[in-house]
Amino acid sequence: MQAVVCSQTSKVFYERKAATGGQKGRSLWGLNGIRAKKTPVWAVRDVTFAVSQGEIFGILGTNGSGKSTLIRLIATLLLPDRGKLSVYGHDVVTDPMSVRRLINRVSVDAAFFKKLSAWENLSYASRLYGIGPRAGYERARDILKSFGFNEDYLARPVENLSRGMQQKVSIARALLTSPMLMLLDEPTTGLDPKSKAEVQDFIREVHRDSRPTILLTSHDMKEVETLCDRVAIMNEGRIVALDTVEELKRAHTRTCDGASLEDVFFAVTGEDWEEAMSDE
Ligand SMILES: Nc1ncnc2c1ncn2[C@@H]1O[C@H](COP(=O)(O)OP(=O)(O)O)[C@@H](O)[C@H]1O
Ligand SMILES: [Mg+2]
Repeated sequence: MQAVVCSQTSKVFYERKAATGGQKGRSLWGLNGIRAKKTPVWAVRDVTFAVSQGEIFGILGTNGSGKSTLIRLIATLLLPDRGKLSVYGHDVVTDPMSVRRLINRVSVDAAFFKKLSAWENLSYASRLYGIGPRAGYERARDILKSFGFNEDYLARPVENLSRGMQQKVSIARALLTSPMLMLLDEPTTGLDPKSKAEVQDFIREVHRDSRPTILLTSHDMKEVETLCDRVAIMNEGRIVALDTVEELKRAHTRTCDGASLEDVFFAVTGEDWEEAMSDE
């Protein structure tokens, strides 16, 4: 069975823009009283792909390409406007509860009660997940021990831990529910190179240890190259390429000898990766 099946999935948002000269987000009304025009933004557009069980699948794209929206659709936090989307055979629209039981999502910013310790946050999460404090504590301890966490760190307020450490605790928290599918939305964005490498190792260990299917988004080409079995390149809401990094490069060596992932990105989007990234 496939872990995720997306078929022609689309999500549209309506951005309100004032009809005449009004500032974005300032008012729902234009300056001369005409109701602001709603402009459709197709955050995810006709996306079709499948993720196999146990795979580490990467979604690579610049800011605004639709990665988080796609993750939120899979996580049942948003409803698709078109198309079908299922997780382990459960439809996200008709059976969201079953989907929620199988997944856990880690977003860009590890969201914690910053004044509480990592332990307290984990035990709160266990209660929230209905695991019970004792079982939750034991599970959290096992997870963190197996990844070589120093217990001293876990007693400190989360705000005193490095962002890399916080992100690891956040991934450990997601593991409390033994998810079949982990959705990691830019798990290493904003981390310094050392913490980034540590979190990547951590993701590898988690995968080796409990074999969840992992769907991760990133705008770090090296990260998807080293971590993911297959990669989908997303641009303006669409998936414009999908394969193993090796195969993507091989397919483009015809047009560009010894193609890098940047070359592939340029070939499929017509945009220069460095420029697209620096525009943000
Ligand atoms: N809740 C929302 N309301 C309106 N527009 C949104 C919303 N969420 C995302 N968008 C728009 O959808 C597009 C894709 O955003 P997002 O999925 O966050 O991209 P990424 O995660 O790749 O940076 C962007 O143009 C963004 O402005
Ligand atoms: Mg995002």
